[in-house]
Amino acid sequence: MTKGKVDALLGIVFGDEGKGKVVDFFTPRYDVVARFAGGPNAGHTIIFDGKKFVLRSIPSGIFDPDKVNIIGNGCVIAPDLFMDEARELEAAGYALTERLHISRRAHLILPTHRVLDRAYEAAKGKAKVGTTGKGIGPTYSDKAARIGLRVGDIEGEFEEKYRALKQRHEQILRDLNYTDYDISQEEKRWLEGVDYMRKFRLTDTETEINRYLAEGKNVLAEGAQGSLLDIDHGTYPFVSSSSTTSGGVCTGLGVAPGAIGRVWGIFKAYSTRVGSGPFPVELFDETGDTIRRIGNEFGAVTGRNRRCGWVDLVALRYAIMINGVTDLVMMKSDVLDGFDTIKACVAYTKDGQTTTDMPYDTEGWQPVYEELPGWKTALTDIRSEADFPPAFKAYVDYLEQQLQLPIRIISVGPDREATIVR
Ligand code: GDP
Ligand code: IMO
Ligand code: MG
Repeated sequence: MTKGKVDALLGIVFGDEGKGKVVDFFTPRYDVVARFAGGPNAGHTIIFDGKKFVLRSIPSGIFDPDKVNIIGNGCVIAPDLFMDEARELEAAGYALTERLHISRRAHLILPTHRVLDRAYEAAKGKAKVGTTGKGIGPTYSDKAARIGLRVGDIEGEFEEKYRALKQRHEQILRDLNYTDYDISQEEKRWLEGVDYMRKFRLTDTETEINRYLAEGKNVLAEGAQGSLLDIDHGTYPFVSSSSTTSGGVCTGLGVAPGAIGRVWGIFKAYSTRVGSGPFPVELFDETGDTIRRIGNEFGAVTGRNRRCGWVDLVALRYAIMINGVTDLVMMKSDVLDGFDTIKACVAYTKDGQTTTDMPYDTEGWQPVYEELPGWKTALTDIRSEADFPPAFKAYVDYLEQQLQLPIRIISVGPDREATIVR
């Protein structure tokens, strides 16, 4: 048993739950913050002191100068995008090179991976996943096919390995008849990004993290995406390509199951999904539009409309089970301030059949709702639980009872300060 623990903060629905905000808020409690999965498909928003940052590959603990931040082996990294992101932080006064450590085992996203991402999507036509176009699927495919390039490769003879993999991709693109692309400019910046990455600490982060744990230090594992986008447990094939659930923390950082402490499951007071795929609680009416407008539900990475609906207890219970969630975090409660009534999906129904378990395929299932009174009060300036309007308190109690877990953190606005600990 290690002395320190790895707590995880995991998005337990379709992503964009507010992970960045809460990781930043939690950072003072930890010694190390580490990303274990995904790459620049993530967009994690952090707002404090009138400043706003959207992080993609860099962990959200980076704003605390005393903490080590790690990009773990389970991640994929695009050198050009990483360079842009890191330079923006450096320009804002955050020194990175000493305290941002990158796993040698993390895989590299090549420019041709991004082209392949587009080509596969185009070939799928109507059945497209609606990816972020960041090359995530093709990069994890190459990892699984054992032909990928890793961060550690840039420390040695790199150019030749790069050319070989690029040529392989070009051949696939020719086979797909997808030849109308030009990566020459992008490739130049990408190679510049590779060079830029060399000034960071490229380390065996699994050994480093385990050493911290042995010293009694505590680590916060920052999830990316959400449980329903997990490659195994999500709404396959409309998923991302990494393990976004708590099992992914172990493989994506190289820590043993016994080192895992608390598992924080983060969700919004309602539901959203960006990209294609089944979404039983999706609202196509004015209510959905209102949630989108008030919640500003437009993607942080692609600017796409997020699809909106009421909270989905079937999905939440499933994700709680898969992850072993110990504590809940509820975000964006303020977005529901104006509604007369609030609904919660307690079951799915299809062809006269009703289930509270997550079906193999959620396509075609309709939500069964329970309805609660709205609170019709602005929550965003509230800083103490004692000041919650009774109807909001009743909504929180209802969710805790339905999910059989405590909601320990309630967020009532995008700012770091708009966070209530219970
Ligand atoms: P992440 O990917 O899980 O880190 O979440 P995103 O940053 O993609 O999306 C969350 C969005 O909601 C961001 O624009 C946040 O600034 C915003 N946000 C976070 N918490 C709250 C909240 O409690 N209320 C409101 N209104 N916005 C919030
Ligand atoms: P954060 O970490 C929301 C979605 C995409 C698409 C599917 C596959 O900010 O919560 P990919 O590019 O990963 O192959 O796309 O997954 N997706 C996300 N949706 N938040 C994210 O990240 C997402 N990352 C990927 O929209 O449907
Ligand atoms: Mg996001």
